[in-house]
Amino acid sequence: MGHSFLVLNGPNLNLLGTRQPEVYGSTTLADIEDTCTAKATQMNVAVSFLQSNHEGILIDAIHAARGVHDGIILNAGAYTHTSIAIMDAIKSVSLPVVELHLSNIHQREEFRHLSYISKVAIGQICGFGAAGYPLAMDALAGYLGTTET
Ligand code: DQA
Repeated sequence: MGHSFLVLNGPNLNLLGTRQPEVYGSTTLADIEDTCTAKATQMNVAVSFLQSNHEGILIDAIHAARGVHDGIILNAGAYTHTSIAIMDAIKSVSLPVVELHLSNIHQREEFRHLSYISKVAIGQICGFGAAGYPLAMDALAGYLGTTET
């Protein structure tokens, strides 16, 4: 087995499928996790999932990923735009993080244009809906491949 990825989803993403489908699509979080699990098998990587509506739980998960996972795919939801604490947690564990959003946050309200996660992520994928998750897995694998010693 190769690398291990953590797919971490923040607030309100448990409601995917019914939450503003015109913005976020009709795919549920369970569907996304199934897609990522199937892709992980193809890629020969391990993947784990966590969703929380609580900032501190997301921070705890980032800390706990140290030494367990090789990288994180993070959709921090609205905490993207507010949480210096999540940004600091990412910086503290020095794991590569791919920032992910279903919607194109740059085309939306001004307050969504600022991302604290972008300041510490290796890159950002946004605007591709649920398809962004498997794209992020490829991005992380590519990054880890190029940084392997
Ligand atoms: C989101 C974009 C955020 O601005 C928003 O608060 C979310 C979802 C996205 O996936 O498009 O909760 O991260």
